[in-house]
Amino acid sequence: MKSIDRDQLNPNNEEEKLLREPVLSQEETEEDIVLNLSLRPLKFNDFIGQDKIKDNLNIGIQAAQARHEPLEHLIFSGPPGLGKTTLAHIIAHEMGTKITTTSGPAIERAGDLIGILTNLEHGDILFIDEIHRLSNIVEEFLYPAMEDYKIDFIIDKGPYAKTIKFNLKPFTLIGATTRSGLLTGALRSRFGMYYHLDFYPWPELVKIVKKSAEVLSMPLDEESAELIARRSRGTPRVANRLLRRVRDYSQVKEDGRINPAVSEAALNLQGIDSLGLDDIDRRVLAVIIDTYEGGPVGIESLAATLNEESDTIVDVVEPYLLKIGLLKRTPRGRQATEAAYRHLGRPGPDKTQKGLFEDE
Ligand SMILES: Nc1ncnc2c1ncn2[C@@H]1O[C@H](COP(=O)(O)OP(=O)(O)O)[C@@H](O)[C@H]1O
Ligand SMILES: [Mg+2]
Repeated sequence: MKSIDRDQLNPNNEEEKLLREPVLSQEETEEDIVLNLSLRPLKFNDFIGQDKIKDNLNIGIQAAQARHEPLEHLIFSGPPGLGKTTLAHIIAHEMGTKITTTSGPAIERAGDLIGILTNLEHGDILFIDEIHRLSNIVEEFLYPAMEDYKIDFIIDKGPYAKTIKFNLKPFTLIGATTRSGLLTGALRSRFGMYYHLDFYPWPELVKIVKKSAEVLSMPLDEESAELIARRSRGTPRVANRLLRRVRDYSQVKEDGRINPAVSEAALNLQGIDSLGLDDIDRRVLAVIIDTYEGGPVGIESLAATLNEESDTIVDVVEPYLLKIGLLKRTPRGRQATEAAYRHLGRPGPDKTQKGLFEDE
């Protein structure tokens, strides 16, 4: 299929403006935040899929409640949009405790945490998103808080330096990370439970899309739900976002009517192809194939050629391409697979000349 270049859309055309929002953008738009709140499940029962994780968490929660203890510290890892933040909120809801949220980059100094930690009540939850981005100093400050519910804070320097000790109430730290590989061993070892969220199979995304359509009072036929689900890169957040793009499109172009043809047209206008790939996914593959002869290419060179942040490629783009086998990670860098050549309609890699595909 042909992809849409969003920059080519006419910025003065209201219809087109409505349809410009990139589907894979990492940052949450204001619309996202508001709608995520209404679409966010509050109970395990409404959280679809990830059954093993839910079962384990349920057991952990019941045991902790029976002992009148806080839940053990735990960490959720996995690509963006799979439900890490949602699960943290569900846990708080099921435990009947308060949740305070912050993120690794937001905590610049250890002092930023004192107010937060000392305000936690027995059993409360502290949620730290992007926990792999905590600075070393803040991380070390957290260890005694996690292990002994105590913190030492040093004020002033030299001869006037004083240590102030705080006792904290037993609490639960829930960390979320898109990059478990960047966690230090020391931090990782202080968590009692570790859950990795994987991409959702499409039938589960169908359920999520249908539920969201209900919340949005939007009529949605079975086939459209499946179309959206299959093109959502295994990701609930993307599924919800595509659903809203279909809703916008049907309102603007079809008087609110939704059927498979309308849904298909809306998804095509978003530049989402049959595998659910967006422009940036295809650009990553195209650059590896066309500029780097299929790879391997290092992530920094790739990011520079694409004029994208390497973090965006590693966190957002790559996991799904790896998952569906269009990309391979080798010690020497990223490599496009034959399936990627086929998907982009390029003639296959020339194996005789480069011998790249044999060394794995
Ligand atoms: N298993 C699920 N069932 C239903 N909705 C989900 C599920 N997982 C995620 N969502 C929805 O997808 C969106 C993104 O989830 P979120 O928890 O913010 O992802 P993450 O924190 O992993 O980036 C939210 O609106 C959430 O309600
Ligand atoms: Mg999150």
